[in-house]
Order: sequence, then C-alpha cells, then structure tokens
Amino acid sequence: MHKESIQIVELPKLLDRRGNLSIIEELKNVPFEIKRVYWIYDVPGGEVRGGHAYKENEEFIVALSGSFDVSLDNGDGSGETVYPLNRSYYGVYVPKGVWRRMENFSTNSLALVLSSTSYEPEDYLFDYEDFINMKINGEI
Ligand code: TYD
Repeated sequence: MHKESIQIVELPKLLDRRGNLSIIEELKNVPFEIKRVYWIYDVPGGEVRGGHAYKENEEFIVALSGSFDVSLDNGDGSGETVYPLNRSYYGVYVPKGVWRRMENFSTNSLALVLSSTSYEPEDYLFDYEDFINMKINGEI
C-alpha cells in the first residue's frame, strides 16, 4: 500500500451463517502501526466532524454501522473527493497531510478511526489556508 495516496481498502470478510467477521491488522490491512483507536457515535443529524488536517497522523476510517461521508482533499488543487462509507468490510486510508471532513451521519452510525500516532493537539491544522501554504512549501 502506498503511504502517500488516499485509498479505499477492502477488508477480509469471513461470511458465516452465525454472523460475519472482518479483520484489520496493522501493517497488513492498514499501512501503519496502530497507536490509537477512537470512535464517533451519537452524531446529531446534520453535524459535521473534522474540518482539519494532520501534519503527521495517518488514519483509517470504517463505518462499523450505518453510513457517513468522508470528504478528503490532499491539497494538490484538484479539490475535495467524497468517499461514502456504508459497510463494515471496507474503509478509507487517509495519509498525513490531507484535509478531512466527515458528514451526513445516518442515525445510529458508528465511525471507527484507527490512528498512527497518539493524540497530539499540535499535530492539527485547523486553518485551510495554512494547510494549502504548507503543502505548496513542501512542509507537509
Ligand atoms: P477532533 O479530533 O477535533 O474530532 P473530529 O475530527 O471528529 O471533529 O476531536 C474532538 C475533541 O476530542 C477535541 O477536544 C480533542 C478531543 N480528542 C482527544 O482528546 N483525543 C483524541 O484521540 C481525539 C481524536 C480527540
């Protein structure tokens, strides 16, 4: 897997009449060591999460339940691409240096986020212009 590019990753899916099972292993299904896991749930209708980029952190996002959209912009001038997530057997890999938003959460949706770094407030970029300028200058 390329660590530079955004990509949808299909996960192993073990179909079973007792219920299905999918798997994520670090450095196998995601191209990083998993340092942190968090999840987003009980999102009120119409809310938007994210609206930032990370300088170093990489993520892998899965809709464990329900659906939502992940909008990603790698700052190359081509704009935002929307990745609708609505199954628990695939996810989107978000490299570092990508502007991301999450929105259109369905009722009872559950977003699983695997991260490559510990929580670090200084790793966040909240200003889109700063993000673009850092991209142009090759700083991220
Ligand atoms: P944030 O990353 O801004 O959420 P989102 O991108 O989904 O909008 O985080 C929201 C709040 O949670 C913020 O106050 C920081 C805190 N937080 C932690 O303390 N640890 C974490 O690992 C994460 C992801 C967030």
